[in-house]
Amino acid sequence: MPVDNSVLPGDIKALLSTRVFGQRIYYIPEVDSTNRAAVELARSGEAHGTLVITDFQTKGRGRFNRSWLSDRGRNLMFSLILRPDIPFGAVLPVTLAFAVSIGQTLENLLDTNVGVKWPNDVMVDGRKICGILSEGASEGDRTRFIVVGIGINVNVERHEFPEEIRRIACSCSSVAGRRFDRKDVLVRVLASLESAYDEFVRDGFEAMAARFKAKLTILDRPVTYTSRGTGSRGTVVDVGSDGGLIVETDEGKRVVLYDEDVSVNS
Ligand code: BTN
Repeated sequence: MPVDNSVLPGDIKALLSTRVFGQRIYYIPEVDSTNRAAVELARSGEAHGTLVITDFQTKGRGRFNRSWLSDRGRNLMFSLILRPDIPFGAVLPVTLAFAVSIGQTLENLLDTNVGVKWPNDVMVDGRKICGILSEGASEGDRTRFIVVGIGINVNVERHEFPEEIRRIACSCSSVAGRRFDRKDVLVRVLASLESAYDEFVRDGFEAMAARFKAKLTILDRPVTYTSRGTGSRGTVVDVGSDGGLIVETDEGKRVVLYDEDVSVNS
């Protein structure tokens, strides 16, 4: 049966249960990157909770300048403007809190186990279903704004993924065997992001760190982490209350990772 697929502001708002997240919406049918557009809006003073959403990105971006590819109208690609009153150095856990909350939402929706890979990937059966890219600006050590960009694969069948990511990506439809209404997925995700954000602001990341760790697919696994072009090996042992990934190196030293690229050794 065909599913309604619109992500127009009026259709989203009719379903929205949040107080703030998504109460202002910019829908741009095609854009280079919703993160780029949201950063520009944030710089010109756009409010906390504003949602920027598109049907197609020509230059979607991921971590480490990777690109984020997505078929037109099949997936969710959006960015949220946030203005938390926290030091800029304490922004990392927001991404982690969001990854775990999207994981929980998808777990309920798809009725399957969903994990997180530090810091920003949501995974089903070792394949990525969602990626998060947080960018921001500071004033001194305070946060001026954060833009959290989220890409969720919704209605792409396994054979429709580009060859180079077919083995490592999945979507809601490829997991559940049915298609989803994107705005229904979106409003569920926005509700859970808002409640994760409220919890983070109220209680900090400490309690959420345990939930992140419980879902961490790379816990106790041997990994290689790359920092400024140099690769090192170790085993993931914990997640700190500041969101750092704690790794015991093969030489027996404990290091905390904040911005490194981490991959599981095969
Ligand atoms: C990653 O996995 O490295 C992060 C991917 C983030 C992709 C989303 S799609 C919406 C938003 N706009 C972008 O340009 N990137 C994020």
